[in-house]
Amino acid sequence: MQKLIIFDTTLRDGEQSPGAAMTREEKIRIARQLEKLGVDVIEAGFAAASPGDFEAIKAIAEIIKDSTVCSLARANENDVRRAGEAIKPAKKGRIHTFIATSPIHMENKLRMTPDQVAERAVQAVKWALEYTDDVEFSAEDAVRSDMDFLVRVFDAVIQAGAKTINVPDTVGYSIPQLWGERIRQLLERVPNSGKVIWSTHCHNDLGMAVANSLAAVMNGARQVECTINGLGERAGNASLEEIVMAVKTRKDVFNCDCRIDTTQIVATSRLVSSITGYPVQPNKAIVGANAFAHESGIHQDGVLKHRETYEIMRAEDVGWNANKLTLGKLSGRNAFRTRLKEIGIELEGEDALNAAFARFKDLADKKSEIFDEDLQALVSDEIVNEASENYKLVYLNVCSQTGETPHARVTVLDNGAEQSAEADGGGPVDAAFKAIEQIAKSGVELLLYSVNNITTGTDAQGEVTVRLSRGGRIVNGQGADTDIVIASAKAYLNGLNKLYSGMERAHPQL
Ligand code: KIV
Ligand code: ZN
Repeated sequence: MQKLIIFDTTLRDGEQSPGAAMTREEKIRIARQLEKLGVDVIEAGFAAASPGDFEAIKAIAEIIKDSTVCSLARANENDVRRAGEAIKPAKKGRIHTFIATSPIHMENKLRMTPDQVAERAVQAVKWALEYTDDVEFSAEDAVRSDMDFLVRVFDAVIQAGAKTINVPDTVGYSIPQLWGERIRQLLERVPNSGKVIWSTHCHNDLGMAVANSLAAVMNGARQVECTINGLGERAGNASLEEIVMAVKTRKDVFNCDCRIDTTQIVATSRLVSSITGYPVQPNKAIVGANAFAHESGIHQDGVLKHRETYEIMRAEDVGWNANKLTLGKLSGRNAFRTRLKEIGIELEGEDALNAAFARFKDLADKKSEIFDEDLQALVSDEIVNEASENYKLVYLNVCSQTGETPHARVTVLDNGAEQSAEADGGGPVDAAFKAIEQIAKSGVELLLYSVNNITTGTDAQGEVTVRLSRGGRIVNGQGADTDIVIASAKAYLNGLNKLYSGMERAHPQL
């Protein structure tokens, strides 16, 4: 059985989804979870894109030990050197350099001749080799590139020392049969193709990113570039969970395996969804809420009699129903700290732990059973709030009654001083936001509002994400509570805190 390398680019290509840019702390949290999931390579960002992204990659490189940490770099000296500096602390570091090879990109975007592109590609690989021997080269828009030219460029970069050759369908244009054929031909025609790892990177514009990636695997690709929940530029990238489960479920076809711990898939999907504010559609394969739900009587009857009549995977194998009852009202500080550690959360300093523990006790008063997911949300609150707390919710009262206009009264700690306001609204959440705005006078535009239940049951916590925009800056705010109006107010204040703290999104979208 051959090894398939899983290269996750949620923190780079995923982050290029509109509004999904993350702060350094958010990137670190996702990187830790990706390591736990067992991805081989984490593309942590694009070092030259912004100082924030550079710092985030560097911090991830310092923390992550089991996965290779990678930075993207255009094929120019500054980009490659920034990437090299950012990954320097990594136990295993990679530079991923790229340049476009299609006529349309070379002529209109790069304004370079094919000879200049080939020469620059080789030069970029050489610069990268000054920092690490793990260098990946991508031919951007390979899908629309001339085959002879691709062969020439790949031959040259392999000779220069690139270890991984990535073939991207940058614009999501291919179809599985053609993409598989392109990979097969490249492996056949590029000299020394057997000495490097062939990789594929597919976008989903025609809904075929996963199918195209799998066709590449069937034709010899041994690395797949993908993202959690298929997040990514435009229609997204190939979804990691679909690729992994396809390869694992159909080992008979792919004859490959990867080292992903599939039981971490759902937790990773939820984390990425809550941080980026991109909800997962209910019927999304593997991680959608209905992915394992059988509605029709015939199906339910079949599954009860013999699970495999209608199920090709087990929900628990991808982390569904892994809700473990962890702690309750009587659990102490030590049990709390130990469980956080077991689920991979490390808070920095006693103050953060104490604050999280106090929140846990509050939650345990409202909710008898506390699951790992509750702890994740609770600690998210802690991490996002610790960044800067200009505003903190002190009190919220909402009146909502049939036939009456919803009304909210709110008290907020505004830089240490209590301020109160009240407002009517179209609904209780609208009223709460309007009351907060009377205090903050931020003038933000609400771009997105989404609520997800963290666990099941009517006493579950609701996790709210708001996306706020002001003066060209976009931030996501999160809040969780058993009361979704309170969760909404917390999310709104968290978003304002991010805006006012000047907490730069790591990656301001190139
Ligand atoms: O889609 C693409 O071509 C990319 C490259 C930078 C690999 O994201
Ligand atoms: Zn891409």
